[in-house]
Amino acid sequence: MRSHYCGQVNSSLIGQEVELCGWVHRRRDHGGVIFIDLRDREGLVQVVYDPDLPDIFAIAEHVRNEFVLRIKGKVRPRPEGTVNPDLPTGEVEILGLELEVLNQADTPPFQLDEHEKASEEIRLRYRYIDLRRPEMLEKIRTRAKVTQVLRSFLDGEGFLDIETPMLTKATPEGARDYLVPSRTHPGDFFALPQSPQLFKQLLMMSGMDRYYQIVRCFRDEDLRADRQPEFTQLDIETSFMDEDEIMRLNEEMIRQLYQEILDVDLPNPFPRMTYDEAMERYGSDRPDLRVPLELVDLGDLLQEVEFKVFSGPAKDPHGRVAALHVPGGSALSRKQIDDYTKFVGIYGAKGLAYIKVNELAKGRDGLQSPILKFLPDAAVEGILQRTGAKDGDLIFFGADKAQVVNEALGALRIKVGEDLELLEGDWRPLWVVDFPMFEWDDQHDRWNPLHHPFTSPKLDQLELLDSDPGNCKSRAYDMVMNGVELGGGSIRIHQQEVQQKIFQLLEIGEEEAEEKFGFLLAALKLGCPPHGGLAFGLDRLVMLLTGSKSIREVMAFPKTQTAACMLTSAPSAVGLDQLRELSIRVRKPQSESAD
Ligand code: AMO
Ligand code: AMP
Repeated sequence: MRSHYCGQVNSSLIGQEVELCGWVHRRRDHGGVIFIDLRDREGLVQVVYDPDLPDIFAIAEHVRNEFVLRIKGKVRPRPEGTVNPDLPTGEVEILGLELEVLNQADTPPFQLDEHEKASEEIRLRYRYIDLRRPEMLEKIRTRAKVTQVLRSFLDGEGFLDIETPMLTKATPEGARDYLVPSRTHPGDFFALPQSPQLFKQLLMMSGMDRYYQIVRCFRDEDLRADRQPEFTQLDIETSFMDEDEIMRLNEEMIRQLYQEILDVDLPNPFPRMTYDEAMERYGSDRPDLRVPLELVDLGDLLQEVEFKVFSGPAKDPHGRVAALHVPGGSALSRKQIDDYTKFVGIYGAKGLAYIKVNELAKGRDGLQSPILKFLPDAAVEGILQRTGAKDGDLIFFGADKAQVVNEALGALRIKVGEDLELLEGDWRPLWVVDFPMFEWDDQHDRWNPLHHPFTSPKLDQLELLDSDPGNCKSRAYDMVMNGVELGGGSIRIHQQEVQQKIFQLLEIGEEEAEEKFGFLLAALKLGCPPHGGLAFGLDRLVMLLTGSKSIREVMAFPKTQTAACMLTSAPSAVGLDQLRELSIRVRKPQSESAD
């Protein structure tokens, strides 16, 4: 139907006839001459209709935004003074000779260049219109390029692209499952995969050696900007490689990706940091290294002070008292500090003590703080010394259970870094290693796996599984970029006894282990190679590469914060017949069935 894309028409075609198809981006009537900006995937071009061809001119007069057209015309230079240097096609225009309306369009719910005025709900409901915007198109195009580069790297390294089932059994990755009722097994359910974890391990047991898959995963969990109920992983598994080899191969892939997509050279090798160090210095296991602020422990200095807010957590083995030193921070206003206090409240912090260092030389008189009166000289001196605070700086304090302090000061560190524009460097990749095997679940009084229950403990720490599981480290690693967890994985357990031991520790009884993971335990006894791998969040990767704020912007058809699809109105009720066939009776929650 066409000879060129609209966006490809340039001065090399001057004098030639072209045939184009596309959407009317804008139509302007300029005193007897009609200009149509015709748009397709590749860009915009200006088509001019004058009244010399009255029949065609008449059609052009009735054309409206988003009509779909096929045009034929002659490429000519734009008249002097009307060249548009911002447009790749801006040196030329097309003198329209033919015009066919392939389809009309109603007035769109929002104009493409006024999308910001439309609510996200409307944009998601009419996602196909939002996707017509060049920025959205560009993101989707980058996404396709990203998967192509990743595939080509992995194909080159001998990885096989293998599909795994979507209708399957629950794989524990820490979220709720999406369940699918079985008609042929009344009362039984499939689970959609939270990840292909167990299948990829079974593929290693099958001798496939190197597997990858770009695969949809499903997790029913609280949604945020970087979490969707349905998302895509680049999932990878290898046999006979240790963690060092796996990390080196994967960072090479990411380096190549950044090179090809952004022409950016990432460091070689990526720095590595232990989980313990990351928590201590940044209060987070995915630190954004662009922010040059660090947490400093003060617990030992404050155990004996009268101020209970500090001495309590300082004495508590699960507590933490830490400072966040902000150079230049004494310029922060009362209102700003109040806002930060509210901000840390989101993470459970009960307050946000601070000291403004106005003039060190004046001793106590040079400091300004609501808590100074509670602190003896030695403690104040210790704090100033350890933080290295100078005139004009500010020190924030967090004192609580370690988890609360880490989350609160960790998030405050990023926020202050962004607000005060302290970020250094564009791209700061990092491997976080030596994760603990388990975290204690206060609510249920038991250990939970920090990664998943198939992650191998460090081989020289196996005895800690009995004596001190909380201190046992795993062979897991996460790749972090600018504070975003891009991917994570581990060396897996390949010995049946160790796997059984981990299930025991996680209080998964023998019967339950057999029922849930019997197939894995059996396979572990039938020739299982040492193996490991990882999975990247593809959406997050593309979000970073395109400078997007949310993964919703890089998914063609994302869901809302309440895990619904505005476009198709899913999820939705189904007919009684269908439910009966599935042996399902629906009991609506009280609030809905009340009236
Ligand atoms: P994990 O659970 O860490 O590991 O997931 C791997 C990566 O997937 C991305 N991700 C998400 N992206 C968008 N929305 C979500 N809801 C979401 N949840 C996770 C993150 C994360 O780093 N089977 C293991 C991997 C392995 O051990 O090989 C797994 O799934 O970027
Ligand atoms: P209070 O004695 O509760 O009035 O608190 C005195 C100062 O300590 C105030 O600036 C509070 O914001 C701060 N504060 C209270 N609890 C904490 C906490 N857990 N961590 C850090 N600062 C706190």
